[in-house]
Amino acid sequence: VIGVPVDGEGMIMEQLEQICQTYHPRLLYTVPTYHNPTGTSLSPARRERLLQLAQIYDFKIAEDDVYGFLAYDETAPATLKSLDKIGHVLYMTGFSKILTPGLRLGALVADNAALSPLLEAKRAADLHSSPLLQLCLADYLRRRHFTNHLQHLQHFYKERRDIMLAAMARHLPGCSWTYPRGGMCVWVTLPEGVNERDFYLEAITRGVGITPGRAFFSQPQPQPYMRLCFGAQPPHRIEEGIAILGDLLSELLNRRYAISVRAARASVTLV
Ligand SMILES: Cc1ncc(COP(=O)(O)O)c(C=O)c1O
Repeated sequence: VIGVPVDGEGMIMEQLEQICQTYHPRLLYTVPTYHNPTGTSLSPARRERLLQLAQIYDFKIAEDDVYGFLAYDETAPATLKSLDKIGHVLYMTGFSKILTPGLRLGALVADNAALSPLLEAKRAADLHSSPLLQLCLADYLRRRHFTNHLQHLQHFYKERRDIMLAAMARHLPGCSWTYPRGGMCVWVTLPEGVNERDFYLEAITRGVGITPGRAFFSQPQPQPYMRLCFGAQPPHRIEEGIAILGDLLSELLNRRYAISVRAARASVTLV
């Protein structure tokens, strides 16, 4: 897997083009809208450029749109699939984030040429997803409660996002983070020198689950990061969890400062 660097507007197209020239990829997997883990979206201009690159360098795009329904401050950006004139995009979405976790049922939109080998691969893997669950889901969708349900979810998750971001501003020293307009993730840049793994293990010991940044890179990164999710916990638990992370971070930073002071005092000039 070759990772493509991202910034606040999603994948950086110049870097993607260089990767295309070096590696000639056949498939690009992307979460262009409310990306997991950064929470950011690919800008409209970059969406157009990505489709051009797919045509120039002849690769398919697997568009994973599991978070596209969870827009809080805007109408979600147009999907790559809706902009695709040449059939290079395989569109995927799922119900785990918007109906119930663990359902593991989704939808794929692709032209027949791309669909046939995918269906063969699916049959070879598990014949098909549970027909009983598929029937239940189809029945639910037919009852037309889904639009109301989505509106409720958007309101519900927006509140959790806002509570998490406000708590972070109060409690997390020395960090910066993204502002997710949808989805469930906030991507946090930790202060330099914090060891991601130690931070993760100590947070777990104190009862807070985070994901260390390294889980999301194909190559090791010098900068420490973490992903926070606001989807699963009620507001008071989000507050509590962020305060615990803040205390932990302050302790680590104070310890680092104390060590550097001791090291400076201990150093003796020899000449
Ligand atoms: C971007 C993305 N795609 C797919 C999935 C998995 O969805 P499902 O449970 O429907 O397989 C996740 C789950 O975290 C996800 O974040």
